[in-house]
Amino acid sequence: MRIGILTAGGDCPGLNAAIRAVVRCASADGVEVLGIRNGYLGLFENDIEMLTRERVNGILPRGGTILGTSRFNPTKDEECIPRLQENWKSHQLGGLIVVGGEGSLSAARDLCRDHQMQIVGIPKTIDNDICGTDYTFGFDTAVSIVTDAVDRLHSTAESHHRVMVCEVMGRHTGWIAALGGIAGGADVILVPEHPFRISRVCELLKQRQQQGRAFSIVVIAEDAHPHPDEDFLTQEQGAVIYRHDRLGGIGEALAAEIERCTGLQTRVTKLGYVQRGGSPTPFDRILATRFGVKAYELARAGEWGQMTALRGTHIVSVPLEAAVGELKRLDEEIYRVAEVFFG
Ligand code: F6P
Repeated sequence: MRIGILTAGGDCPGLNAAIRAVVRCASADGVEVLGIRNGYLGLFENDIEMLTRERVNGILPRGGTILGTSRFNPTKDEECIPRLQENWKSHQLGGLIVVGGEGSLSAARDLCRDHQMQIVGIPKTIDNDICGTDYTFGFDTAVSIVTDAVDRLHSTAESHHRVMVCEVMGRHTGWIAALGGIAGGADVILVPEHPFRISRVCELLKQRQQQGRAFSIVVIAEDAHPHPDEDFLTQEQGAVIYRHDRLGGIGEALAAEIERCTGLQTRVTKLGYVQRGGSPTPFDRILATRFGVKAYELARAGEWGQMTALRGTHIVSVPLEAAVGELKRLDEEIYRVAEVFFG
């Protein structure tokens, strides 16, 4: 038997741990693994390498992906499919493991369902927005990076008596903002799930100042929106900040509005791609490894169309059909905990 593996979409810490796990399981069974470079693009362009046990030596703690990645989605153009199938056939692939986020796993579901490609999915993303699993790997590392950044912002904010706005990633959900903000002790956390009122944010910051706390930390998710009743963004600003393929900039706009409304000196830090880089935390290494082992077992058993998932403390499989298509929004219970510490 011979299987392929690819990593697609935005990279995240833990991808190499998952690749290593698949290759280690396969080589113990005498199964060959082909590494497809740069996501689905490698299958389209026939950019493929043999992954031996030696090739995956030492990659467990490394960030990024040894296979490279891209956001190329073959299902967006039906004309791509015959070429994928041709290359699949020429390499005699018995199946494919796709390590991806919401977009790449939706493509995997479509390729499985509509083109009978034999695929198993592994969910990864710093955003933690995939429905079928409690956690994706990459998320824990991102949260720990945000926590560290917020800790560091505290000391400089305190020294200068400033408001610090910290913009974090997360795409359309507030998982990173909420958990990073709670762990870092942010005074206000703004997430896409709850459009925010700028008047309320300013009131909280002024209250803190009046109570003798002359600095504040505001964590804002890249897709957090002002409440329509109090929208302070111009149409042009909105179009730039909420660009479908590249979110970012709400932190700057928020900081300017806070300073204008409160007179408090306000600075901005946009954490950006730092949240996706570097070595995975032990939690992410372990989760990625467990997903890799499970994905290999599913492939070996011919259970195509499944995705590995964490449910509680157990690794299970769920149908790709049920796992993608809808985003997993921030848990309300977590948001309520965050709110307890506002102000
Ligand atoms: O999905 C992961 C993520 O880092 C999001 O949090 C962010 O919005 C997006 O990817 C950035 O995408 P790109 O790498 O294409 O700029």
